[in-house]
Amino acid sequence: MTVESGVFYRNVRSSLETIVRGEGVYLYDQAGRQYLDAVGGTSVVSIGHGVTEIYEAVGRHAAEITYAFNGSFTTRWQEELAQAILSMAPAGMRKVYFMCSGSEANETAVKMARQYHLHRGKATKHKIIARWQGYHGITLGMLSLSGRPSWRQPFDPYLFESPHIVPPYCFRCPLGKTYPDCGVACADELERCILQEGADTIAAFIAEPVIGTSATGIVPVPEYYKKVREICDRHDILFIADEVLCGYGRTGYPFAIQAWGVLPDIITMGKAISSGYAPLSATLAADKVVDAFARSASGEFTHGSTHSGNALSCFVGLQVHHYMKQHNLFDRPAQIGAYLHERLGGLAAKHEIIGDTRGRGLLAGVEFVADRKTRRPWPTETKLTERIVAGARKRGVMIIPGIKDSNYGQGGDHVQITPPFVISQSEVDIIVDVLDETIGEIAASL
Ligand SMILES: Cc1ncc(COP(=O)(O)O)c(C=O)c1O
Repeated sequence: MTVESGVFYRNVRSSLETIVRGEGVYLYDQAGRQYLDAVGGTSVVSIGHGVTEIYEAVGRHAAEITYAFNGSFTTRWQEELAQAILSMAPAGMRKVYFMCSGSEANETAVKMARQYHLHRGKATKHKIIARWQGYHGITLGMLSLSGRPSWRQPFDPYLFESPHIVPPYCFRCPLGKTYPDCGVACADELERCILQEGADTIAAFIAEPVIGTSATGIVPVPEYYKKVREICDRHDILFIADEVLCGYGRTGYPFAIQAWGVLPDIITMGKAISSGYAPLSATLAADKVVDAFARSASGEFTHGSTHSGNALSCFVGLQVHHYMKQHNLFDRPAQIGAYLHERLGGLAAKHEIIGDTRGRGLLAGVEFVADRKTRRPWPTETKLTERIVAGARKRGVMIIPGIKDSNYGQGGDHVQITPPFVISQSEVDIIVDVLDETIGEIAASL
């Protein structure tokens, strides 16, 4: 007799395979089945699965200190990790606040932005402007900022007021324009929104520099973030770059925003910084933000949880950082990513139902269309994304479904490919060949 699982799964009617081992880009289940993890779990695993050096280091040092309350003490691991992350960060970033999840890193950023303005006597500045097709986390606060209708809808009564602007989504421009004639009007939308709401009510603008799961792989045009920076400065508004998914090397830059040569006021990180070996996230504050706290009457940041700056998580983050440096993994996504994008381009040339392949480094998205000329998406009932993800899984490759509802309820089916940074060329070939076979089979049945 099978015993019913005591775990409350994401779908209580589903049963999930048990993973027992990971190695490199591969996961193995209890039945001995191998999966090529083309998404690093959920864009988390950077150094690969099963790196024994990390466990061995934990074994050697965990006995020294695993927990000290961050309100009362700091630890060597937290201090060293902060310096290590800052050594990779754009000049001008000065301090790091550690939490466990990306959602918490963004909550930290929002509270930091709010208190930055309070400390400067600007008490009316409280709203955070975000973008549709952005995702910032699962807490009610971060869901309020996330522009993902299907995830917001059940909790709508709890969400706080937060203006959303259009995403910089050239493939389906929400303003019906074409680059470069558009003059990057999607960035001007930020200013329009600020003026409409009143600049004295706005604390910050939050955006994923390269968009993750709600419209995977969208890389805004070169002028976009420069305009955003200027608009924020003009209205005394902080710019928060959510790099939880795209940061720490994934796009070929330590921080994705570096590609635009723009300095945010706050950067949030998660996922790759601990590669899934422990829960860890970070919020980086620039000089301007730190100075406002330092010059205030109290210096206080009213924030903190039981596991802020957790010593064990910071220790693991430090080992992951050393491993990435030793194995040149900050450089690898640019190199191997170029090959991945070249191969995805070849796939698009072959399959009519592929409308767009995009991304940077090892953050790639493939979007599907029912008609290439009009870019008309497939009807929801076709369940195209689900079928492609299931077809790849059947062939032993794990990819992630993009969230289809995010294009104002009518949007493009798309999938996400974000493998560990250690992926080899032949493993990229396996992913693309499996997608080729899967898409070919499904397209023939449509
Ligand atoms: C861009 C972005 N921000 C925030 C989050 C939330 O991170 P977490 O799930 O660790 O809370 C995610 C998670 O996927 C993300 O992709």
